[in-house]
Amino acid sequence: MNAFDLHGKVILVTGGAGFLAEHFVTSLLEAGAKVALADIALKAVQARAQKLRENVVPVHMDVTKQDSVDEAFAAVIKEFGRIDVVVNNAAIDPKFDPNSSANTKVFENYPEEAMEQSVDVNMLGTWRVSKAAVKHMLESGGGNIISISSMYGLSVPHQDIYPEGTQKPVDYGMTKAAIQYLTKYIAGTYGQKNIRANALVLGGVFKNHDDAFVEKYAKYTMLGRMTDPAEIGAPLVFLASEASKGMTGHLLVVDAGWSA
Ligand SMILES: NC(=O)c1ccc[n+]([C@@H]2O[C@H](COP(=O)([O-])OP(=O)(O)OC[C@H]3O[C@@H](n4cnc5c(N)ncnc54)[C@H](O)[C@@H]3O)[C@@H](O)[C@H]2O)c1
Repeated sequence: MNAFDLHGKVILVTGGAGFLAEHFVTSLLEAGAKVALADIALKAVQARAQKLRENVVPVHMDVTKQDSVDEAFAAVIKEFGRIDVVVNNAAIDPKFDPNSSANTKVFENYPEEAMEQSVDVNMLGTWRVSKAAVKHMLESGGGNIISISSMYGLSVPHQDIYPEGTQKPVDYGMTKAAIQYLTKYIAGTYGQKNIRANALVLGGVFKNHDDAFVEKYAKYTMLGRMTDPAEIGAPLVFLASEASKGMTGHLLVVDAGWSA
């Protein structure tokens, strides 16, 4: 099982203060990696790093600003000497506010600003971080970029699982589909420079969703349930490690069978 060992690897995870990052980082640390937790919410990553203690550093990064991304890369490289793996995990997942005006609840009236924000964080943010990663990895002799995508980048929502009168907005899946293209683009362009790029494509991960939602969601999956947070760390370790060294340009789907 040595191929899964991450001792000696430095891994930068964006969106390090978020829900899934906690599970990702715990698994990466268990496999032996040193981890940099990057997020716009600096206090939250500092608190998480303090809790995890060894082999973790917090760093401020706003993925909507290339300068901020580059500064964060420089700080992590100063701390750990290099970055071997970058995990593009930061994103926003827009939801309809039932109290907002009705005309923003449907596709045909979806506000331009909401679309622009998703594109800036989810799509362009992943692009900015990947640019910094490729630049560093070309200098250091190689590396590995993993982008966290969604089943909604592969297939469209069943709107009937969402509360009546609301929709899952279009921007989330659009930007996640773009990340999947970016993954293949980087894989194709830099494969022979020893840089791999893969995407981890997740289904809805259970986080105290109400029973009615879980029941409706589960009917569209093969396993009859949402994805468990405990199921996402090991696939990330696989993609980050030598165990997947023959894989690039791949979309690894962990969605309880939703998209199939
Ligand atoms: N939770 C799920 O069910 C699920 C399912 C499929 C895919 N995903 C994907 O997994 C990833 C993590 O999701 P999550 O549920 O942990 O989300 P989350 O909202 O808990 O975490 C996202 C993190 O990104 C950070 N962030 C937002 N804007 C930023 C910016 N401009 N610069 C830097 N950081 C910024 C936030 O501060 C937050 O800590 C996302 O890419 C999401 O699309 C999540």
